[in-house]
Amino acid sequence: MSDKVNMTIDGVEIQGQAGQTILEAAEAAGIYIPRLCHMKGLTPFGSCRVCTVLVNGRPQAACTQPVSEGMVIESECDRVKQIRKDIIEMLFVEGNHFCMFCEKSGNCELQAMAYRFGITAPKYPYLYPDREVDASHPDVMIDHNRCILCARCVRASQELDGKHAFGFVGRGVHKRVAANGRGGLGSTPVAATDKAAESCPVGAILKKRVGYAIPIGKRKFDHQPIGSEIESAKE
Ligand code: FES
Repeated sequence: MSDKVNMTIDGVEIQGQAGQTILEAAEAAGIYIPRLCHMKGLTPFGSCRVCTVLVNGRPQAACTQPVSEGMVIESECDRVKQIRKDIIEMLFVEGNHFCMFCEKSGNCELQAMAYRFGITAPKYPYLYPDREVDASHPDVMIDHNRCILCARCVRASQELDGKHAFGFVGRGVHKRVAANGRGGLGSTPVAATDKAAESCPVGAILKKRVGYAIPIGKRKFDHQPIGSEIESAKE
């Protein structure tokens, strides 16, 4: 039996492989589906929902939904674009994201996503939560104000570094990433060279003493929109 799977994305016929997710099949075909919690090499988590697409008319997370024969996928219709935009705006207001003061500006996937969706100011009221900064580690810090709970660090530490240095605590609006040590981040075995320290899509986990090594204006998303490396592979 063939392991090829035929489907359409926004009316374009593509062929994926059995076992792929929609996001993987789309990417292989040069179609970018926005994503934040997804990171290549990590188990899909399906939490941010920025990758929402319509599959035969129903919303699904493209990063976790396996492909199947004959799927009709909509990714760039107005309904899906509005869902993604709303999610991104909610992420901005539920944390404390001040791009102009953030070392990650220009390399931040949340900021880049806002540019891609043309968001200048969220329509929701800012919540200004009271969150901590943990600078107890000599080489790495975590600023919970910027955390979007994508769990990339949790998964990277567990699956790639074999350290289990991060986990979640609390529920609902009180949910937080926590360092797995009584003395905060400094009491974990995290190293600046860990994949977990590289995995943060925003400016929540930062390495110390390397700030602004790449000047503002010369950073990844300063020159090309997020996703353009996937879209340009199609041309
Ligand atoms: S990228 Fe799919 S849910 Fe986050």
